[in-house]
Amino acid sequence: MNISGELISWYEGNKRDLPWRSTTDAYIIWLSEIILQQTRVEQGMPYFYRFAEKYPTVKHFAAAPEDDILKLWQGLGYYSRGRNMLKTAQLVQAQYNGQFPTAYEQLITLKGIGEYTAAAISSFSANEARAVVDGNVYRVLARYFGIDEPINSPKGKKLFQQLADEVLDNQRPALHNQAMMEFGAMLCKPKNPACGICPVRLGCAAFKTNATMYLPVKLKT
Ligand code: ADE
Repeated sequence: MNISGELISWYEGNKRDLPWRSTTDAYIIWLSEIILQQTRVEQGMPYFYRFAEKYPTVKHFAAAPEDDILKLWQGLGYYSRGRNMLKTAQLVQAQYNGQFPTAYEQLITLKGIGEYTAAAISSFSANEARAVVDGNVYRVLARYFGIDEPINSPKGKKLFQQLADEVLDNQRPALHNQAMMEFGAMLCKPKNPACGICPVRLGCAAFKTNATMYLPVKLKT
């Protein structure tokens, strides 16, 4: 089996039961992904529940006063995320009749939605074959394939996106993306990765050369 197949098998036996994983509602997935940008799952979870409860649809969200959104956002930081969300919700309400887009090419045009978020929403909501590349994915790919190209150089970004696209399971993109991120978060961790129980250690370049602690490489900016 390739890395994707192995990680999907691992994921199915080990995944956390997270609330946004049991829906294909693009609006709810968008909510979760924006909250989880720069925020840990444990920290973001209560915020996710509060937002999803108070604003169950994009229509509810779009009608909210900005002060209410920012108040609910308090503690998460990066308030521009909250402001962008309101602008995006209003645009979706007006231009898409409240139907949150699921297509990558439409999502990428929206405020606050970059390549990662567009890939996450389109794959999770509609199984569009788009590979997500976040910090977890950089780490897993850099270690498994033994790549020391900096993840934040233009060349590195392109290289890792290409690699992520190559290993993507086109038949199961949603499962694949969740598996890559979960594996990076739970097992192939930045410090003290759990190589002892890793299902892909025999194919892992960094494990073979004892280089997990040196990968991925990130240039200081
Ligand atoms: N962090 C960002 N997106 C996530 C997701 N879908 N599941 C778990 N952690 C995440």
